[in-house]
Amino acid sequence: MITYQAGKQPDPREHRLIFKNVDREGWDPSIDCYLRDGGYEDLRKAIAMEPKAITEEVKKSGLRGRGGAGFPTGLKWTFIPPNNTKPVYLICNADESEPGTFKDRYILHQDPHQLIEGMVISCFAVGAKVAYIYIREEFPEAALILEKAIREAKEKNFVGTNVLGSGFDVEIHVHRGAAAYICGEETGLIESLEGKRAYPRIKPPYFPAVLGLYMCPTIVNNVESLCHVKHIVRMGGDEYAKLGVARNTGTRILCVSGDVKKPGYFEVEVGKITMRELLYDMCGGPKDGRSFKAVIPGGSSSKILRCDEKFTLKNPDGTSRELGFWDIPMDFDSLAACGSMAGSGGVIVLDDTRKISWILNNINTFYAHESCGQCTPCREGSMWMKKISDRLVAGEASPKDVATLESVAYQIDGRTICAFGEAASWPVEAIIAKFREELIADTRPENEDAPHNPEAEAQRRFLQPA
Ligand SMILES: Cc1cc2nc3c(=O)[nH]c(=O)nc-3n(C[C@H](O)[C@H](O)[C@H](O)COP(=O)(O)O)c2cc1C
Ligand code: SF4
Repeated sequence: MITYQAGKQPDPREHRLIFKNVDREGWDPSIDCYLRDGGYEDLRKAIAMEPKAITEEVKKSGLRGRGGAGFPTGLKWTFIPPNNTKPVYLICNADESEPGTFKDRYILHQDPHQLIEGMVISCFAVGAKVAYIYIREEFPEAALILEKAIREAKEKNFVGTNVLGSGFDVEIHVHRGAAAYICGEETGLIESLEGKRAYPRIKPPYFPAVLGLYMCPTIVNNVESLCHVKHIVRMGGDEYAKLGVARNTGTRILCVSGDVKKPGYFEVEVGKITMRELLYDMCGGPKDGRSFKAVIPGGSSSKILRCDEKFTLKNPDGTSRELGFWDIPMDFDSLAACGSMAGSGGVIVLDDTRKISWILNNINTFYAHESCGQCTPCREGSMWMKKISDRLVAGEASPKDVATLESVAYQIDGRTICAFGEAASWPVEAIIAKFREELIADTRPENEDAPHNPEAEAQRRFLQPA
């Protein structure tokens, strides 16, 4: 469910490209409204181009995926084997499952034709005649809006056979997801789309661009990434690359939630605003009488940053420089250099009233629930981490538990089939590294002797010979 705030004015520091029509006065998701605003003109331009030339423009634009990993979109498209004879598929990842992220849903609800136009252009570029929008089960209204928009686009021949007389055929289908976080992981998504349980596939060999849907080359891109494609075609790759900063081009939508005066979405040029500008100038600063404590900058799976941290970063010439938390530019490379990531753009803000053990437990509970269970370190480890942090919040943990928790996290990290392992373990590793003392203060040495698992204790007693 999203709330419409018609006429909401963008912050003056925003640069609206993708969210130009979101909450815009007088705007509606119909094709008539979209066409009145110049809609589908970028598709007309694209189909007069060579497909390879579109990919070239996307490469030149420097666009990096907005779904989480920040992988270059144009480069991903070139991974389709050149001698391929199988069908190629395009999948729009509309699962938006990363906690803290709430951007794709606005596009799906309020500007579905922008996505469809971006998808048709992308299909033309990569040679896909069939595309799917894999939409999370929890967005039933958005699924209906998309289905209607696809019907409208077909009636006007922007989708279907012989698109705008170009000889290019493309069909787009909406596929409702299976209501699990792991359905957002691209290979889990593909399994789910094939009608199976969303068990992620191992990479290599199952890189989707080579062995994806039905073992055919498949491009999986996020909703926001696919919308950018139409703007790249309109502006040209070089012009688009002037937005943002080097290697971190274009705009992106930041979703700010938590302890700020004015939470919400903000579309900004990548890397052009700092953490201070975002949280103080755009979000109004901390709530009255409170102060900022920490920020999870790219969705729940990104590593937490303390607001009093300082980082030593390497310059391209080999020298180094100091950067304080508040001066971090909001881009992929800077956040990675500070030990976290820009991820899905979900900026979660915590103030001094937040207890870190509670935050840790909240995150652990989510990941323990969402593990698909396919690999042992993730299945068992995520549940162990939850059980230990359950004890922490209940005041039943011992100081040793914190070390055990840390050790479990490091034994998941890098030892699993998919990146869920890192998504579950990175927050724990970072929270312990940065707030160890606060966590230890929530423990009691005398708890060390207490049975940790009352269930197992009861079982042992039951199984012991009388
Ligand atoms: C556990 C997990 C969940 C993910 N959830 C999403 C999601 O909800 N939406 C999304 O676009 N990407 C998600 N991703 C990333 C996708 O696997 C994939 O990299 C992305 O859709 C590629 O699109 P992009 O290159 O445009 O970013 C997730 C990844 C992992 C490991
Ligand atoms: S890492 Fe976790 S979510 Fe990913 S395949 Fe293994 S068990 Fe499933």
